[in-house]
Amino acid sequence: MDARGLVRSVKVVGTAQGLRSVRSAWRRRRADALGLPRRGPERARVPGLAEGADPQPGGGEVRFARSSLRVIVTTGGAVFCGWDGAEPEPSYALVRGCPEPDVRAELEPDMDGGWRVVSERVTVAVSRHGAVEVRTPGGVVLRRDLPPRWWDPVDAAEGAGSRWVQRSEVAADARFFGLGGRAAGPRLRDGSYRLWNTDPGGAFVPGDDPLYLTMPVLTVVADGGTHLVFHDNPWDGRMRLHEGDEGAGSGHDRPGSYELRMDGGPLRSWTVVGTPARLLRSWTTLTGAPALPPRWALGHHHARWGFGDELEVRRIARSYRERGLPLSALHLDIDHFRGNRVFTVNTEGFPDLPALAEELRADGVRLVSIIDPAVKAEPGNAVYDSGSACDAFVRDARGREVRGVVWPGESVFPDFTDPQVRKWWGGLYAERLEQGFSGVWHDMNEPVSFAPFGDPSLPRSARHALEGRGGDHREAHNVYGLAMARAGYEGLCELRPEERPFLFSRSGWAGMQRYGGTWSGDVATGWPGLRASLALVLGIGLCGVPYSGPDVGGFTGSPSPELYLRWFQLGAWLPLFRTHSAFFAGRREPWEFGPEVLEHARVALRERERLLPYFVTLAHLAQRTGAPYVRPLWWHAPQDRRLRDCEDAFLLGDALLVAPVLEPGTTRRAVRLPPGRWYDTATGHAHDGPGQVLLDAPLSRIPVLARAGSVLPVQAADGGVELEVWTPAAGREGSGLVAPDAGDGWERPRIERFTSRIEDGRVLVERTGGGDLRYPVRVRGRPG
Ligand code: NOJ
Repeated sequence: MDARGLVRSVKVVGTAQGLRSVRSAWRRRRADALGLPRRGPERARVPGLAEGADPQPGGGEVRFARSSLRVIVTTGGAVFCGWDGAEPEPSYALVRGCPEPDVRAELEPDMDGGWRVVSERVTVAVSRHGAVEVRTPGGVVLRRDLPPRWWDPVDAAEGAGSRWVQRSEVAADARFFGLGGRAAGPRLRDGSYRLWNTDPGGAFVPGDDPLYLTMPVLTVVADGGTHLVFHDNPWDGRMRLHEGDEGAGSGHDRPGSYELRMDGGPLRSWTVVGTPARLLRSWTTLTGAPALPPRWALGHHHARWGFGDELEVRRIARSYRERGLPLSALHLDIDHFRGNRVFTVNTEGFPDLPALAEELRADGVRLVSIIDPAVKAEPGNAVYDSGSACDAFVRDARGREVRGVVWPGESVFPDFTDPQVRKWWGGLYAERLEQGFSGVWHDMNEPVSFAPFGDPSLPRSARHALEGRGGDHREAHNVYGLAMARAGYEGLCELRPEERPFLFSRSGWAGMQRYGGTWSGDVATGWPGLRASLALVLGIGLCGVPYSGPDVGGFTGSPSPELYLRWFQLGAWLPLFRTHSAFFAGRREPWEFGPEVLEHARVALRERERLLPYFVTLAHLAQRTGAPYVRPLWWHAPQDRRLRDCEDAFLLGDALLVAPVLEPGTTRRAVRLPPGRWYDTATGHAHDGPGQVLLDAPLSRIPVLARAGSVLPVQAADGGVELEVWTPAAGREGSGLVAPDAGDGWERPRIERFTSRIEDGRVLVERTGGGDLRYPVRVRGRPG
């Protein structure tokens, strides 16, 4: 460690903590020096030539001189490719193992000594050298994976496992999205993206990579078709992306490409092809439906690290109420714990938390609790004692508890990859429920152990159960937050079966949507942070996690009133709408920025409140189809290159287009429109897409457009639901869906569908399937 590292650690966590974390970082280094298999000499290998194949249902196995490739096409059209004997399972991502193979698809000989599998939705062609092409039924090549290359340890006894690299080519016009939460997105430009969940330490800006939540899930959008590829391997790795080049009309296209380099783990992938909506649907089939947040979680949340005591919490709730500002939830950060110990309460500040929770709830405000995985290693600490009794904590290669340093001081880490440990941990949430909390916020679960040098996490040699298979942190690291989310979710389901859990988590991996959502983490206050906030929500949504949002106003520092307001106006249209900041940062309550900001923030809050029935509908649709609430503009028109490159606006469901202000001093901004007619919701003016329009964006609002013909449920003045119908274009039919709110239990409401069209000069709205409309209708938008 250098002097800067020491200074940084002391600054970040205080003197005693700083020294503790220095010791812990040295311990980690030593543990790895002793406990990690040594990387001795290695031998490079490629598959060699194909020697034969064994057809099996859905595909089969191609045998190469020095490897083998298993191809399976499932009934849903998803393609599995596994090299070197890799099977779909075990996998932390898959929800119910490998879906049924499509028995009509089989391996058959192809030209030039290769093999292919032809199915209804996709053709997979394997060359005799081991290149794999995925093509549309019409023959368009969506991707070509070149033969992989492995580095095998020469001495197999050392157990280091093989490293590998694979290069894939895509169309010259392709754009890349996803890879989990990337501050640099939503469009992922040329560069190297690491696959290792990481707390950047302090607040992050768009250039920081990786962040807390990485996923080897990539969406590739090109003229010839859209596909999603998932490299099902949680080990550390890097993806190097290169957008292609169309040779400026010279006819010499350079394809887009990426190279995936992994430190170990299986070489296997899933590919799904189709429209963006289809990709997400297939992804949900593979990895599970997104958890449905309770209705209150779709309202406004306010948090702060450092409310300090119940007086302050009451003051905030009262101030919201007195100013007529809707508030759904307040979040208590680690300062409400006793000495930052998880599952405890600082009773000096919060002498009667259940009473506080009840009082707030009577006013419609829920309490959400932060939960950190690190447990203070201290006999007498009940969580430590009960965890020790069931051997819950991660051990090193020599069998000793791994100790790290987090907020409470020296800490141990539950091994969530052990089903018994998940059960024990899930049971601990009983205490949170008894304290009156309605939901949980998982933090620091990359997992973090403060370190002034090296990786701020557990030693790579630390041992994990990995569902009984056994392994080390190199394999368990990226799924740690995912497995913690599972523990919490399942615990809450068992403890309070009548209500859906509300959980969101900073870290996670492919499939985490099954248990809840996520948030940006510590985004730096500043205009670049505001932009990154949107990138994170869009990117993670395309990886199947539809519920997320940033720290509105940024985590650090003090935003200018203008920046705060613009962030607030963006946040109001995102699934998780939460103001939050650090104890060392300025305030984030809307009244702290002067009367003008307060007025405009109130408008945004009220609009969010009015749109709650629409958000409820989007949540249900996300659960049933995997479609994120917040979608890139190219969602319905992926062939439109200008939409593909548009990063400063988004679709909220099918009906709305939101164009946030992401730059200071803006009062007017250009808005790119997808095809069709769009109404400026502020003026009612119609604009026809595709194209670009200049719209007013005064401080009081950001441009929001509604698609002509859309029918969306909104809250009426009397608190009931009404249908807001945007005048359809002449001769066109519009539509919209409504998921009636069925409470916070498990009831699945029937989704209602409505259509709109113009008849005899009037807008006619009908319920599909006939019958009464059941909702009042309000028509908006002037016919163009
Ligand atoms: C880090 C989290 O990202 C942040 O939101 C939280 O306030 C702090 N930890 C303290 O718990």
